[in-house]
Amino acid sequence: MIEQTPPHAAVRGHARGVFIAFEGGDGAGKSTQSRVLGEWLEGQGIEVVHTREPGGTTLGRTLRELVLHGEDGSVTPRAEALIFAADRGHHVATVVRPALERGAVVLTDRYLDSSVAYQGAARDLGHEEIRDLSLWAVEGLLPELTVLLDVSAEQGRSRRGGVHDRLEREADDFHDRVRQGFLDLAAREPDRYLVLDAAAPVGELAAAVRERVAPLLGGAEASATVPGAQHEGHGAR
Ligand code: TYD
Repeated sequence: MIEQTPPHAAVRGHARGVFIAFEGGDGAGKSTQSRVLGEWLEGQGIEVVHTREPGGTTLGRTLRELVLHGEDGSVTPRAEALIFAADRGHHVATVVRPALERGAVVLTDRYLDSSVAYQGAARDLGHEEIRDLSLWAVEGLLPELTVLLDVSAEQGRSRRGGVHDRLEREADDFHDRVRQGFLDLAAREPDRYLVLDAAAPVGELAAAVRERVAPLLGGAEASATVPGAQHEGHGAR
């Protein structure tokens, strides 16, 4: 759990868990990788909270419906940015922080970087503005590690096999800007990111993720063996 800005003292004092985000374009395979990592962690007796944005809470599911399934033109770009930030603020306060305070590993499919890539870069609302908006919403909470599954617009389109929401309907150049937005974030803070080629085999990606996560677990968990670690580096960029 990393604090970008000093949080409330009580929150900082009890922070023990590990916060990991999975990011990438639509169709990158985030949910598969977070599920596989979660199973591996649970196999070691670690409490895992698997969650997502948008829609990781009751309020969030309503916001998700509004922001993803409205008619075209029904949500302006700034309203879109605010809805994702509202979902995130509520999600962090009611699900993520309580779990981290218990010492759980929190795995989220999408977090703040999705807003920077989709609203900041692709919708052109500005990297810093969108990042600051979300940082305000979550009182500065950033993941220890963000796993970025890098996928091209074309690959993403063929992998997700059909259009499911308003954002997926956007043209390839929108998704190219999303991709570049994610890569720019990773380039700024390479120590906090693991960038993987989403086209690599699932098992190979999972091994690379486990290898990167193991040292974050601390104590007994940190010395756990990492099955498949012999694939070190494969699929990584
Ligand atoms: P979802 O079905 O969760 O997509 P995926 O399964 O690909 O993760 O839909 C989330 C959509 O919302 C996705 O197109 C990305 C978009 N999004 C944003 O534009 N900004 C955000 O801050 C978040 C969290 C998601």
